[in-house]
Amino acid sequence: MSFEFTNRIGRVEPSATLAISQLASELEAEGADVVDLSVGEPDFPTPENVVEAGKEAMDAGHTGYTGSNGIPELREAISEKLRGDGLEYDPEKVIVTPGAKQALYETFQTLVDDGEEVVLLDPAWVSYEAMAKLAGGELSRVDLSAHDFRLEPALEDLADVVSDDAALLVVNSPSNPSGAVYSDAALEGVRDLAVEHDVAVIADEIYERITYGADPTPLASLEGMDERTVTINGFSKAYSMTGWRLGYLAAPEELVDEASKLHSHSVSCATNFVQHAGIEALENTESDVEEMVEAFERRRDLLVELFKDHGIEVRAPEGAFYMMVPVDDDDQAWCEGAIQDAHVATVPGSAFGTPGYARLSYANSEERIREAIDRLASEDYL
Ligand SMILES: Cc1ncc(COP(=O)(O)O)c(C=O)c1O
Repeated sequence: MSFEFTNRIGRVEPSATLAISQLASELEAEGADVVDLSVGEPDFPTPENVVEAGKEAMDAGHTGYTGSNGIPELREAISEKLRGDGLEYDPEKVIVTPGAKQALYETFQTLVDDGEEVVLLDPAWVSYEAMAKLAGGELSRVDLSAHDFRLEPALEDLADVVSDDAALLVVNSPSNPSGAVYSDAALEGVRDLAVEHDVAVIADEIYERITYGADPTPLASLEGMDERTVTINGFSKAYSMTGWRLGYLAAPEELVDEASKLHSHSVSCATNFVQHAGIEALENTESDVEEMVEAFERRRDLLVELFKDHGIEVRAPEGAFYMMVPVDDDDQAWCEGAIQDAHVATVPGSAFGTPGYARLSYANSEERIREAIDRLASEDYL
C-alpha cells in the first residue's frame, strides 16, 4: 500500500546533523579515524554511585510502572534542588519525564495551537523548531549571532518580534549551541516583554550546572515569571546520564494538570529504577560534577587558544560544552568537507538557524581536540 502521512509529520525535516553522522559512520566503516566534535553528550561515565543506585533499585524490585508524574521521593528531591536554586516548585508542580526532550515536547503540545507563534533565539537547539512545527506553531526567530551570541544587545530585536499573538518564547541558557549564559539584564528584558504581552516562556536550563565563572539566574525566579514559566531540566548533561533518559518539567499546577494528560497517554512514566538513581544523582554527585566541569573548562580554554593561534578569535563561552566558530557562508559544505578531508565531525550552524558557523562540541579529550585542530589547519579549513 502507499501510506498517507500526516501534514504534521510532513512539516518536520530530518535532522541536518544526520548527513554529518552518516558521513562519519561511512568513513569509520572504511577504517578512518574520525575525531568527533559533533556530539551532544559528556564523554564521562555516569558517576559510580548513581549506577549502583540504579542496580540496587532494580534488585529491590523497582521495575514496574510508577505514578505517571514520577515517584514522590524524586519529585520531592527535584523540588528541593530547585528550592536551592531559588525556585519554589512543590512536588505537585513537577512531571518527571524520560529525558528533558519529552518534557519539552509535552510543553509545546500543551501550549501551542495551530498557527500560533513561537519565538526562538537563534542559534537555537535543533529540536525546538521541530517541536514547534509538530504542534502546528509558526516560528519567529531573533538572531543573536551578530551580537556575539549575547541576548542583551538583541532585546530590541526581540521586542520587535514578541507581540500579544505570541504563544510561547523559548529561552535556553546556558545555550546549546553557542554556550552563552544570558545576563540578568537580558533575562529581565525577556521578563518585561513576556509580562507585557502575556506570553508563556520555556526556560530550558539543562546546562545550568555546566558553567565557567558564570552563575546563571533561573528565569522563573524573576518577579512575574513563576506563573508563566515552564522550567525544563534533566540529568543527561550534569550527571552524564544521556542514555538513562531522565528529565523533568516544573510549572504552575494548572499546566502540569494538562501536560500530564499527554504524559500519561504517551510514555506512562519514566523508568522506575532510573528515577531511583536520579535521587542519588541529585543528592550525591557534587565532586563528580565539579571534576567534569573543570575538565570542560580546560578544553574550552584550549580550543579558544588553538583558534587564536590560527588567527581566529572566538569568545570563550560561559557554559555548556559547545562553541560556535565562524566558517564559510556555506557551512553545510564546510562541515561536509571537514569530515571528508580532515576526518573531523562538526555540526553546521544552519541546523541551529545561523548559517556561516560550525558548532564544535568539546566533549572530547584535550589530545583529540588538538588533533582535530591540527587536521583542520593542515587541510586548510582554518
Ligand atoms: C538545549 C537542550 N535541551 C534539551 C535537551 C534534551 O536532553 P535529554 O532529553 O537528553 O534530557 C538537549 C540535549 O541535547 C539540549 O541540548
